[in-house]
Formats: sequence, C-alpha cells, structure tokens
Amino acid sequence: MSGSSGAASKGLMGLIVVLVAGLVVLAYLLFKLFTSGSGINPGSPTMTASAVTARIAQVGSEKVVEGGAPGTRSGKAVYDSLCFSCHATGAQGSPKFGDVAAWAPRISKGFETLVNHAINGFNAMPARGGGADLTDDEVKRAVAYMGNAAGAKFEEPKAAGAASGAAAAVDPATRGKEIYEQLCVACHATGLSGAPKFGDKAAWAPRLKDGADAAVAIGIKGLNAMPPKGGFAGSDEEFKAAALYIINASK
Ligand code: HEC
Ligand code: HEC
Repeated sequence: MSGSSGAASKGLMGLIVVLVAGLVVLAYLLFKLFTSGSGINPGSPTMTASAVTARIAQVGSEKVVEGGAPGTRSGKAVYDSLCFSCHATGAQGSPKFGDVAAWAPRISKGFETLVNHAINGFNAMPARGGGADLTDDEVKRAVAYMGNAAGAKFEEPKAAGAASGAAAAVDPATRGKEIYEQLCVACHATGLSGAPKFGDKAAWAPRLKDGADAAVAIGIKGLNAMPPKGGFAGSDEEFKAAALYIINASK
C-alpha cells in the first residue's frame, strides 16, 4: 500500500517540477517578446516622428492618378484614384464626398478659393491631394466634381483639346435657344408683363435702336418687370446668347 502511494507522490512531484520549469521558460519568452523580441524598437533612429512622417510623405507623393494621360483626366477619374482615399470616409477631418452639410460652408467660400486650397494645400489637406503630377485644370475638375456631388453648381474645366473653349463664346443658335426655351419663353413668348414678344419686330425696334449690345446690357441689369438676366442664374455670356437668340429672330 505504502509502496504504491510513494510511487504516486513521486509521479506528482515530477509533474510539478515539469510545470514550474515550463512556467519559467514561458515567463522568460514573454519577457524577451516585450523588451526586444517584436523587432520594433521605439528608441531606434528610424522610428523618430520626423523619420516616420518623411516615409509617409514619400509614399504620398508617389501616388499615381489613373484615368488617362496627365492633363486629360476627368474630375471623377482624379477623385476615384486619389481624393477618395480621404474624402470617401472623411479621414483626417476632410469633408466627406456627397455630405451636403459638410460641404455647404466650403462651397460658400467660392470655387476659386477651394481650388486654391486644393492646389496649394490647406491644413491636413495636402497640396494637390498628394498627386504631384496633377495639372491645375485636373485639380479644378476634381474640386468641381466633389463640390457638385454636394450640391454646388461648379463647372469642370474642359479637358485640353476637347473643344478648347473657343474663348467661351456661347452660340446663340444652340445654347441661346436652349436657355430661351427653358426660361425666357415664360414672358417673351406671350408678351407677359409687357415683355417684347419673340419675333415681334415692331416691339423690338425701339429697344434695338442703340444696338443689340445695349439691349443685352439692359437685360443683364434688369428693367421694370424684366428681372436681372430674366432670372437666369448662369453666366453673362450665356444670357447674352439667349438675348441674341431672341433679338436675331426679332429684327
Ligand atoms: C490625405 C488626405 C486627403 C486627400 C488625399 C485629399 N484631401 Fe482634400 N481635404 C483633406 C482634409 C483633411 C481637408 C479639410 C482641411 C481643413 O478644412 O482643415 C480637405 C479639404 C478639401 C477641400 C476644401 C478646402 C476648403 O477650403 O474648405 C477641397 C476642395 C479638397 N479637400 C479637395 C481635394 C481634392 C480635389 C483632392 C484630390 C486631388 C483631395 N482633396 C485629396 C484631406 C485630403
Ligand atoms: C418674368 C418675365 C420675364 C422673363 C422670365 C424674361 N424677361 Fe426679358 N423682359 C421682360 C419684360 C417685362 C421686359 C420689358 C421691360 C420694360 O421695358 O419695361 C423685358 C425686356 C427684355 C429685353 C430688352 C431690354 C431693353 O433694352 O429694353 C431683353 C434683351 C430681354 N428681356 C431678354 C431676356 C432674356 C434673354 C431672358 C431669358 C434669359 C428674359 N428676358 C427673361 C420680362 C421677362
């Protein structure tokens, strides 16, 4: 009886020795891991704040923007391959894409200011969003694309080569007609509130005695029941096209 109990306690002692030895080894390994074992040494010169920032900046400046040759990329292409990396989620306090409330105070700064900030950087917003090879026009297109997604009515500059603007001369026969049919028609088709009617030479003759440009200038300012630009919110150039469309049909 005593022989078998002695063997049992001897076996138990052996087990305890093995357990303790195992614990010591484990404690040693944990100690190694938390002191130097992970391979990251916060004291190393490669881990200073400036060294880390420099490495991150390097990655940022190497961003490649897809969607066409430099200079031709659309606002959407620039956004999709670069700006989204912060603006899709609102990272670092950036105004989130499509978030009308976040963009409203920014849009109210005006397109030129936003473009200026996007090109030159603004607080945590890096210059050109980090896309060093973006042209000014490409940044403008991206700003317009993002602004418009949040309720603005910015115009994306045309891609170089694509109908290079022709100095923005707006064609009365096409754009002018379009604006007339959307807006001016409300009064000028019927002569509402005393508006000179479309095609009515007698009604237009006295208004055109100083030339079409003078009548256009009056229309831009507004006159009695004619609201400034007839209530048109676009450019003077476009209003002029609409006015010339009416005038050309009425003289
Ligand atoms: C690394 C993150 C990041 C990237 C990439 C980025 N932005 Fe931004 N952007 C920001 C942050 C952060 C702000 C807010 C800055 C502030 O108001 O302090 C901001 C603000 C803006 C604003 C508003 C500026 C103002 O005056 O209110 C515009 C416009 C803008 N970004 C355009 C762009 C465009 C265009 C791109 C791509 C070409 C881009 N951003 C890429 C972080 C980024
Ligand atoms: C709400 C009605 C209304 C709308 C909309 C309107 N007009 Fe007029 N317009 C008038 C009235 C009324 C006059 C005449 C004002 C007067 O002589 O007292 C006028 C006059 C004009 C004149 C002549 C100015 C002059 O020298 O006598 C031009 C040009 C003109 N409108 C262009 C336009 C164009 C272009 C649009 C569209 C973009 C437009 N209008 C939309 C009511 C309107």
